[in-house]
Amino acid sequence: MHRITNHKEIIDKIYEEIITGDNLGAPAGYIPELAKVDPNQFGVYFMSTENDTYGIGDWQTKFSIQSIMKVLSLSLAYQMLGDSIWKRVGVEPSGSAFNSLVRLETDNGIPRNPFINGGALVICDMLLSQLKNPLFDFLSFVREVSGSDKVYYNETVAQSEASVGYRNIALCNFIKSFGNIDNDPNEVLDFYFHMCSIEMDCQQLAHSFEFLMDGKFRTKNGSSVLNLSQSKRINAVMQTCGFYDESGEFAFKVGLPGKSGVGGGIVAVHPEKYCICVWSPNLNENGNSHRGMKFLERFTTETELSIF
Ligand code: DON
Repeated sequence: MHRITNHKEIIDKIYEEIITGDNLGAPAGYIPELAKVDPNQFGVYFMSTENDTYGIGDWQTKFSIQSIMKVLSLSLAYQMLGDSIWKRVGVEPSGSAFNSLVRLETDNGIPRNPFINGGALVICDMLLSQLKNPLFDFLSFVREVSGSDKVYYNETVAQSEASVGYRNIALCNFIKSFGNIDNDPNEVLDFYFHMCSIEMDCQQLAHSFEFLMDGKFRTKNGSSVLNLSQSKRINAVMQTCGFYDESGEFAFKVGLPGKSGVGGGIVAVHPEKYCICVWSPNLNENGNSHRGMKFLERFTTETELSIF
């Protein structure tokens, strides 16, 4: 098996090159609280199945995980409901922006995949119907998979997004009109905005994806999160849909399943090998971290460790 023996040197070298280079783009401007974040922060955290871990830069600074939470909400819904979830949400790349309403009309309110906002709202609706105390229970799940109790919602960010959440409000109501939202759209949206507001640092976020990297992963109480076939499917959806209309580009350049968020975080997984989280708030035109994309492209090229 190809081991990364010199990953620390490679990470140091690429980090240095990227931090001294350009910092194009801007933090997510459409959520007022996120627009205030210092765009010069840049952190990386690497962990392997062989228990090698390494962090550099602002890897211990918490940031808004935003859409990255969609992988965790999907995983919990998959754990609770099994394959029935795929009746209400597809697994095809959408080829459009994460907040687009365009295809829903012709697709009869069945979002193309669980990572575009429409799909994530449908997953939230499923969880809302399943969980006794949705906010508390979801946070407990995130704490369990991340192995850290110090994970919280950021109420200010959740309210900030809700105050300008016109597109998500439209999406949720539109999907409800097709009968693919069971609960009150206001409750679904409140749950969704809170989930997006969760804050983690690079280390916590990389650990949260350990169950998708390592088939032998068990939580503190000894249970697995998903079975191998389910993990394979989540990784496949990350590979094809994790970066919206830049998913092809990410596969082409980086060659790993991954997920981005408009907080500037990206997590990428090499099944059975390693997991890496990169955070830098400036986003490109597709809403993905500019430096994060660059870092990961260089990392998989130099380590020669990608799945393609
Ligand atoms: O719903 C939204 O617009 C945000 N809370 C999350 C979007 C997001 O992170 C897209 N990712 N690149």
